[in-house]
Amino acid sequence: MKVLVTGASGNVGGYVVKELLNMGEEVVAAGTNTQKLKELFGEDVKPVHFDFTDKNTFSKALENVDRVFLMRPPHLGKPEDLYPFIDAMKDHHIKLVSFLSLMGVENNTIPPHHKIEKYIEKVGIPYAHIRPGFFMQNLSGVHSLEIREKNEIFIPAGKSKTSFIDAADIGLATAVLLHETQKYKNTAHTITGPEALDYYQVAEILSKITGRKITYAKPGFLKYRSYYIKKRGLDKGYVNVTVALYFMTRMGTAKEVTNGFYQLTGRKPRTLEDFAKDNIEAFIK
Ligand SMILES: NC(=O)c1ccc[n+]([C@@H]2O[C@H](COP(=O)([O-])OP(=O)(O)OC[C@H]3O[C@@H](n4cnc5c(N)ncnc54)[C@H](OP(=O)(O)O)[C@@H]3O)[C@@H](O)[C@H]2O)c1
Repeated sequence: MKVLVTGASGNVGGYVVKELLNMGEEVVAAGTNTQKLKELFGEDVKPVHFDFTDKNTFSKALENVDRVFLMRPPHLGKPEDLYPFIDAMKDHHIKLVSFLSLMGVENNTIPPHHKIEKYIEKVGIPYAHIRPGFFMQNLSGVHSLEIREKNEIFIPAGKSKTSFIDAADIGLATAVLLHETQKYKNTAHTITGPEALDYYQVAEILSKITGRKITYAKPGFLKYRSYYIKKRGLDKGYVNVTVALYFMTRMGTAKEVTNGFYQLTGRKPRTLEDFAKDNIEAFIK
């Protein structure tokens, strides 16, 4: 039987596909853009057209599949957007779903991940929730433009600390959960990077790696929200979720450092400095 990977073209899904293939699993890569999936994975995986908002795409995606990596596309802000597919997984007798959740949601009902976890548990699908800290890829991805163009980190996190983790590490840990189905049935795993850093420290690391003076702008929430919606033209729903997440971060919810990654993989998680070195092209013009 195969493993279905949703968001296969995304930050984490791509690594989940790669690591499952390394473990000898057969993988079906799902997304709304199958051309992109073909370009990414070639002949190694079967691409399937799949859309959380279109029930007609579910049964084809679940054909000969018994395990699923489930992620919530960032623009689907309502937990209910994922419920029809969760119901379909239940009908299909999926034997393990690993949901890409978020660190701390067991004690926080605000992010959509909380309700999604609860819904999976309520319908009774065996689960292995993965609860990572903030991704290092936020810096090399959505926030890299300001770093490259203005030498500035424009994130409303105040003086708070974050235990950043590399999406590649999340992909490996998730593949372990899906590969060892029985062992990890009905479990949850908080995985983080090796250290908690504030954004002044992040700026220092990026300055060292790039040889430029990069500073932390420390914007307020309103300035951040208006900039990303009006100037950057990002989806309002997505920006609103990130405002809530940075609000939580300021309360200290992103700073915990766990050994969850080591427990699952026997390896040490990557440091931000090593990540920045390997992804330097994201931070230079
Ligand atoms: N960033 C962080 O620091 C962080 C931390 C913890 C948890 N998370 C959670 O991680 C998730 C995001 O993961 P990611 O960064 O790996 O994703 P991502 O890189 O933003 O990729 C989004 C994926 O969703 C797919 N997609 C978009 N619309 C879809 C639809 N209607 N139906 C099916 N697939 C669709 C896209 O594929 P196509 O283009 O092919 O459709 C793409 O593969 C979010 O739920 C976020 O809250 C993020």
